[in-house]
Amino acid sequence: MKTIKRVFTVNGKPFFPLGGQARNSSGYNALEAETAFQAVKLLHGNTLEIPVYWEQIEPEEGQFDFASVDALLESARRYGLKLVLLWFGTWKNGNMEYAPAWVKTNPQRFKRVISASRQDIWVLSSHCQATFEADRSAFVALCRYLKQNDTEHAIIALQIENEPGILGSDRDYGPEAQAIFEAHVPQELLIKMKEAGTGSVYNLWQAAGGLESGNWTALFGAEGGELMTAWSIATYIDRIAEAGKAIWQNETFDMPMYINVWLGEGGWRVPGESYPSGGAVSKVLDIYCWCTPHIDLIAPDIYIADSKGYEAACASYAREDNSLFVPESGPQGANAWNLFRAIADYNAIGYAFFAVEHVLGQDISTPDDSYIRPETRMLVESFRCVAAAIPLLLQYQGTGKIHAVVQEEAMGAQHLDLDGYIGMAQFGGGHLDWRHWQQRNITDPPSNERGRGLVVQISRHEFYVVGAKFRLFLRPKLPSEQALHISYAREHQLTRLAHYVLVDEGHFDEENFVIDRRRNGDETDFGVWVESDVGVVHIVMCD
Ligand code: DGJ
Repeated sequence: MKTIKRVFTVNGKPFFPLGGQARNSSGYNALEAETAFQAVKLLHGNTLEIPVYWEQIEPEEGQFDFASVDALLESARRYGLKLVLLWFGTWKNGNMEYAPAWVKTNPQRFKRVISASRQDIWVLSSHCQATFEADRSAFVALCRYLKQNDTEHAIIALQIENEPGILGSDRDYGPEAQAIFEAHVPQELLIKMKEAGTGSVYNLWQAAGGLESGNWTALFGAEGGELMTAWSIATYIDRIAEAGKAIWQNETFDMPMYINVWLGEGGWRVPGESYPSGGAVSKVLDIYCWCTPHIDLIAPDIYIADSKGYEAACASYAREDNSLFVPESGPQGANAWNLFRAIADYNAIGYAFFAVEHVLGQDISTPDDSYIRPETRMLVESFRCVAAAIPLLLQYQGTGKIHAVVQEEAMGAQHLDLDGYIGMAQFGGGHLDWRHWQQRNITDPPSNERGRGLVVQISRHEFYVVGAKFRLFLRPKLPSEQALHISYAREHQLTRLAHYVLVDEGHFDEENFVIDRRRNGDETDFGVWVESDVGVVHIVMCD
């Protein structure tokens, strides 16, 4: 049993945000945002992540315009959705595109990063006090506005900055940064490393000789520049979070604040080139976890499609001191099955994919399923399956009772080791029911469509199943001489002798399961099949 730090709450209760992130320019006005809201509804999601731009809310220094925020609050109310606002401030994808013009055009006051070749680059320096104070004051103004105006509590969290770090240099070589680089590594960091006694940062320190004091190069060798940058950016953002959180002090609600990450595992893996240097990549994640007491989550943007790389990313960010939250993931097919692993095996506490508008082929006032772009259908269906299972996730994540079903390439069936039962998730076609008649004779799913979903065993004989393109066969674990007396003829796809007490389709109404339809006879003889449009299937077995 693992205690899950839930972080997100609504009305004081744990909440599982599920949905999409709007495209970068969709937050400028209500019209641009409309499609994103519609798309999240089509997913059966509950949350839209959408940017708020420093350049838009503070066009002149000290003069704020929150009309765009009002529009988001109004749309959230109309659609009945929650919002995660993304603060595009000092950093956006390792540069400064969303800083206001008065910041961009005044590099004397708002210092830029100086590269090793003495060029100033299009990134604001984390070592510049004026920039820090300007960003912090704008963010605090936003928080104050939200506290006063978000009367329906639509906002469930704030992301501070977006994929922070430096693209274009491994570190800042400007005079302020250089002085810090040459000074002693802060004692707090040494204390944390010693306390940890393990992990990536600790290992880098040991590999460089494990000195008790010294500058960043002395303690971390060639990685010193990246580690110093990570420490500097982490503490910069944490101080912004501290000021923002103070707005909600004395409230029962503590606004969650998190940092998202451009992962370091792509390309050549060169900091400042392959990913923004100083961002919370797995190599430096310890520094972020140790030095950001006001940040609730460090959240990876997982665009990795292959299951090995995807799982490695989940494993890095699902830690004792950090719950896994995936604020961005790929709109590509693989995400449609990978997300079940994040949820079942890494206890993800929320999930979204980027460019949610892409789900809709057209700009229309009342979209229905016929408008879903075919290439996004599999992802949409997976999100609908997760949406149906949210009450189960909130109750059973961390207990070991939730199992992911994921059809890896060329896989015909997946074995499930359950409590008292053997499960077999069989992929491919077979008998469904009259509503899915067209699928009946399909023996192979379309090439990119995979079986995927969740099996939740809540007690020895009781299961809930969601997903698509698989059928679950269950048989009790018995001593082999008894097991062989029961005919579970996989080759005929029959479980006529399975001891079902009941098999029901249904949905959760708040926390209670509501039965919509009973299955029996032909509808259960061929295994318990799931599709995204049947909701949650409840199975009770007996000996
Ligand atoms: C990750 C960023 O965080 C998003 O804002 C967006 O730029 C996507 N990359 C584009 O793929």
